[in-house]
Amino acid sequence: MSIQRLKIIKIVGARPNFMKIAPILKIVKAFNRKSQTEGNREHNIDILLVHTGQHYDYKMSQIFFEDLEIPEPDIYLGVGSGTHGEQTGKVIIEFEKILFAEKPDLVIVVGDVNSTLACALAAAKIDIPVAHVEAGLRSFDRTMPEEINRIVADHLSTYLFTPSPDADENLTREGIQTNRIYRVGNVMADSLLANKEKALRSRILKTLGITEDHNQELNASGNRPYGLLTLHRPSNVDDYDSFMKIVKGLQVVSEELPIIFPIHPRTKKQIEAFGLQNIFQFVNTSQKTGNSGLYCTAPMGYLDFMRLMMSATFVMTDSGGIQEETTLLGIPCLTLRNTTERPITISDGTNTIVGNDTDRIIEEAYKILKGNSKKGVIPDLWDGKAAQRIVNLLIDSFL
Ligand code: UD1
Repeated sequence: MSIQRLKIIKIVGARPNFMKIAPILKIVKAFNRKSQTEGNREHNIDILLVHTGQHYDYKMSQIFFEDLEIPEPDIYLGVGSGTHGEQTGKVIIEFEKILFAEKPDLVIVVGDVNSTLACALAAAKIDIPVAHVEAGLRSFDRTMPEEINRIVADHLSTYLFTPSPDADENLTREGIQTNRIYRVGNVMADSLLANKEKALRSRILKTLGITEDHNQELNASGNRPYGLLTLHRPSNVDDYDSFMKIVKGLQVVSEELPIIFPIHPRTKKQIEAFGLQNIFQFVNTSQKTGNSGLYCTAPMGYLDFMRLMMSATFVMTDSGGIQEETTLLGIPCLTLRNTTERPITISDGTNTIVGNDTDRIIEEAYKILKGNSKKGVIPDLWDGKAAQRIVNLLIDSFL
């Protein structure tokens, strides 16, 4: 098929989506500018940005638009929180109306959140082609809602843009035709590389009163190196026993090294529900604080969080994207899950799986503190050009 103007709807919904769409939007803008200057105004990619509203707090959504210079969404569906069924169902109902009204040539979804699945399903059902960015990742753990989202979104998609060879293999094993699979690299790397300089200008270290000097002796002055933590998976924070296994490990490690913990709203609610406020120190809030070396802050924007990662002694996380970002930055990462859908960060990168095993958390953290951290290499095609490859492929296919 060859058309003059390609009309694409691009979906964002939740925090981990924003850094994946920003580079694609930039490349499309540059393509349209070039078409204009060459006097070929009609040769254009019209992008409509739809935000489902799955995440809605300023620090879970709007701050990323500002940090990553993403234009305001054209359409905001405002679905908000709910059970998986409620959230997915609401997005399907609202997004289908947009599809009928706009009749796009293609819908692009990214990642593995509920909005990804819902929008892919709504489009595929009415025969609108779907492109899935970050296709093919598998944790092989179907108790993880994201695993269901990944599998279904992939099987509904016409264009599967993958970040790594393991993803290609997963898709082929599941019977997806190879001519739908395009290894383009990692769009997260595009955002990270494009924003590294800007992140260095963040004042977050100063605000938190910490230094970036890894070699500095630990002392009581408050000017010390630090570990960085994120924790929000329902499997880790919704169940008291599982949560406490991790917290116990963190308490021991944080006696050696303070740990900064930008806290997800779900986890904050759970800390309150379990009555664990006395364990954490809440920074910059009026909340009564505990006395451990676990320093909770509000969720961070993209640039402040990247700045914190860049100088951390280690990062502990149950997030997916942070496993990739630490590999890109060469910072040791301990993943607080039993599986990962990003095995390349283990085989090639700086990532180690520790699950919610208290002893392993302590053991692996101490290895790093003693200077025995994993040195990784950056995987192939995590080079800052993934979005360009995606847009080139779409231009070749449609225009
Ligand atoms: C979602 C994604 C997960 C991703 C995470 C990043 C799914 C299935 N999960 O999980 O893959 O790692 O985003 O954050 O899509 N809340 C707020 N403010 C907000 C958003 C959420 O307070 O702006 C609270 C609400 O209480 C809500 C809870 O967080 O019920 C969970 O939000 P939800 O979007 O359901 O899932 P996440 O845990 O954020």
